[in-house]
Amino acid sequence: MFERDQHASDGPMTSTLLRTQESMLRELDSRVEFAMRPDLASLVHWKQNNTAPVHRWYRYREGFSPKLIDVLGLGDRILDPFAGSGSVMVGAAERGLSSAGIDVNPLATFVAGVKLAPLSREQIAMVGAHIELIQSGRFATEEWPIPALNIAHKLFEPTIMTAMMQLRRTIEDHVDDDAVHRYLLLAWISSLESVGSYFKEGNGIKYRNMKRAPISYVRRPEGEWQRARFGDDQRAFAVQTYTRRLQDMLEDEGRIDRGAWSPQRIETGNAAEVLPNLHGEMDSILFSPPYANRFDYFEALKVELWFGGFVSTYEELRKLRKSSMRSHLASDLTQPSASLEELSGLIALMDESSYAMRTRVPGLLAGYFDDMRKVLEQCRRLLARGGRVFVVVGNSAYAGVIVPSDALIAEIGRRVGFSNVRVSVVRPLAVAPQQRLRLDGLSQYMRESVVELW
Ligand SMILES: C[S@@+](CC[C@H](N)C(=O)[O-])C[C@H]1O[C@@H](n2cnc3c(N)ncnc32)[C@H](O)[C@@H]1O
Repeated sequence: MFERDQHASDGPMTSTLLRTQESMLRELDSRVEFAMRPDLASLVHWKQNNTAPVHRWYRYREGFSPKLIDVLGLGDRILDPFAGSGSVMVGAAERGLSSAGIDVNPLATFVAGVKLAPLSREQIAMVGAHIELIQSGRFATEEWPIPALNIAHKLFEPTIMTAMMQLRRTIEDHVDDDAVHRYLLLAWISSLESVGSYFKEGNGIKYRNMKRAPISYVRRPEGEWQRARFGDDQRAFAVQTYTRRLQDMLEDEGRIDRGAWSPQRIETGNAAEVLPNLHGEMDSILFSPPYANRFDYFEALKVELWFGGFVSTYEELRKLRKSSMRSHLASDLTQPSASLEELSGLIALMDESSYAMRTRVPGLLAGYFDDMRKVLEQCRRLLARGGRVFVVVGNSAYAGVIVPSDALIAEIGRRVGFSNVRVSVVRPLAVAPQQRLRLDGLSQYMRESVVELW
């Protein structure tokens, strides 16, 4: 989860407006039961998954810990309509529970699908043989085509690009078994950032030849940063990164009891469109939607999307962005949205001349909570008697105004028919320095929470 990168050019907020905002936020909060749950803070983040078997196969920064299943007592049938890399689903499988998951990003559902699919002994042997083949250097000399992403050539050192595309060619041309192919492809995709000249940061990627300095970024001497990162043999670095990833995956196969895993169901699509087609009753619905912070997952994951073959044209990428939740500016902001009075009141306090107001943030926010309403309506329909919905969400701030997503989601929940709502505050969120002055006295409303509805 990420804090907002509030824009520095937004102007000051008068004390009258601040007081009005404070009374609105206080009033919204007064409608909800609040609890403090700092014990959940480490579970709504990825960190614990870094070393956990299977979860570690692909680092999905926005993922949360499957331990939430135990701590929140989710029951036997779980739904995650924003499943990401499937942390909850893998957690459900490990515990012998059943789950269904949806995510709009085909990369995310691919990752979840591979993690959830058990390999037979023969298939595991095929992966072992593939590792040996690669380690002996007998892999394709021909390269897989480089995708049409316009920055493709800046992403890898030429030697590394060649090695990676030869490895990919080997995967594509020499592996007939579908499950083994997907397994190898996941290891290859999850090696990209490690061998790349880029890394993910904030809402996008940064290049490794630039180093963060106190004021901005400075260029690192050519040759030096490559040696520091990749060593003297870049080809060997790429090959070893990929084979080590596969070895880790195989090692995990020995650490888990796949036989005890229960099958799970994962679907690619927009939750608001897929949920109406789901039937059956869920004991719990747990999800973390994108936060209303303009963060575009397709931007941060674009290298994997293009190189993994999930998109091959800019038009395909644009369509995916459009079908995602209205939490970022490349989503479909032309769709109509039902209005939410409390939100409109807060938007009215935003500085008209601010960057946020000029960049269609009001439409984005209206769309975000309208999407959330559609999802919550479906959640209510799908919930078994006595079941609960848990929404992990962070608040955001624009143009000197805090958008209390947790309290607003609780309010929407009540309107779609939930009788009980509770907001458990997990941790405070940092406010960017330029907003800190403007939000004087309101920073306690910047928080990450679990909204519980039943
Ligand atoms: C905060 S992440 C969830 C991460 C997940 N809990 C995990 O452990 O990996 C939010 C997810 O929502 C997905 N998403 C965005 N818009 C969506 C939509 N309209 N329908 C379904 N998923 C969507 C994103 O692709 C992203 O994977």
